[in-house]
Amino acid sequence: MGKKYTFSEKNYFSISFDEIQKSNKLSFPLFIYFQNNDHLILRYQSNKDINIEEFEKYKEKGLKEFWCPKEFYEDYKNSEIRTDANAESIMDPTTELAIATLESDSLSENEKEKILSKIGQDYIEVIAGMGGNDPEEAKKSLNKCNAFVDEIIKIAGASHEMGSLFEDISMIKKIDLPHSASCSTFSVIFSMALGHTDPKSLADIAFASLLHDIGFMRIDFSILQKSIDTFSPKEGEAFKEHVNYVEEIFKLHQIEITPSVSEIIQDHHEQFDGNGYPIGKMGFQINEMSQILSLADYLDELLDGKHNGEKLTPAEGFEVLKKMQLQPDPQRRFNPEVFDPIVQAASRSNIKRDESQLSEKDILKKTG
Ligand SMILES: [Fe+2]
Ligand SMILES: [Fe+2]
Repeated sequence: MGKKYTFSEKNYFSISFDEIQKSNKLSFPLFIYFQNNDHLILRYQSNKDINIEEFEKYKEKGLKEFWCPKEFYEDYKNSEIRTDANAESIMDPTTELAIATLESDSLSENEKEKILSKIGQDYIEVIAGMGGNDPEEAKKSLNKCNAFVDEIIKIAGASHEMGSLFEDISMIKKIDLPHSASCSTFSVIFSMALGHTDPKSLADIAFASLLHDIGFMRIDFSILQKSIDTFSPKEGEAFKEHVNYVEEIFKLHQIEITPSVSEIIQDHHEQFDGNGYPIGKMGFQINEMSQILSLADYLDELLDGKHNGEKLTPAEGFEVLKKMQLQPDPQRRFNPEVFDPIVQAASRSNIKRDESQLSEKDILKKTG
């Protein structure tokens, strides 16, 4: 019998039985975890022949996976059984916690909100510390946030009416559309932080964010390439039209969009002070999720240099938002109930601006 090992999901990653059947020999050990008495047994030693029949027996008993110590992750990654499809099956503990919370039947709504909102706030804190003034560093860190939100959307979007589009959308997202991808990442994280934790709302805002600027398809490319601050009045008006093309484009491409997703997209350029478009709605007339998307959109425009051509890191982008919060003007572009908690969560990162890179350890520490 194998020696008893202590198990912690932080120290092991799982590999499904099916993956193992693709190979005769592996360069990493495999353990089986017995939940009832919480112990691990070494079942395969590296570089020996695999006894598939033995493994089949475990499978018949209902065991679905092996566990491997994380120090062997590189060996697993480089092994022949490794494919891109299972590359994403290893999650950081915060992502696992968020998903377990979203899927839990035993936690109350209140408890779910507490956990997810804390995770959302911690992510904002991390985003706001990203990169300092190094764009390359910021880009690397943002990928981890994107990966986190991708996992959230997978769960939240599964029971959504537009869920069948998810695969297409995530494909498109991988190919291009960095602005839409970042907006969906920021929107979902902001929504979670603000206590929107039901899967439908999260999926709504994720889909809306990915599709919000679909109207750009009808806007002259020369306008899209310019910074917003340099638009002539005529170009500015032409640009604003992108929100009016949305319904038509969806119809033409036979994309079935739900009313809630459509509403979020329609209002994404409305402003709390009434200075937005296309209608000039004010305050709480604006769809609440649109207000969140609008802030995510604004932040990513800052990162993308969309306003004046100067690309900012998330750390610098949040500095701009913080300054906006200090303005005495009572007329505000963003709803303070949306804006203030987000900027406040971001402000916590001030203390450790210098070690701003997102790491598993940081998040673990922050989520306790
Ligand atoms: Fe837009
Ligand atoms: Fe946008």
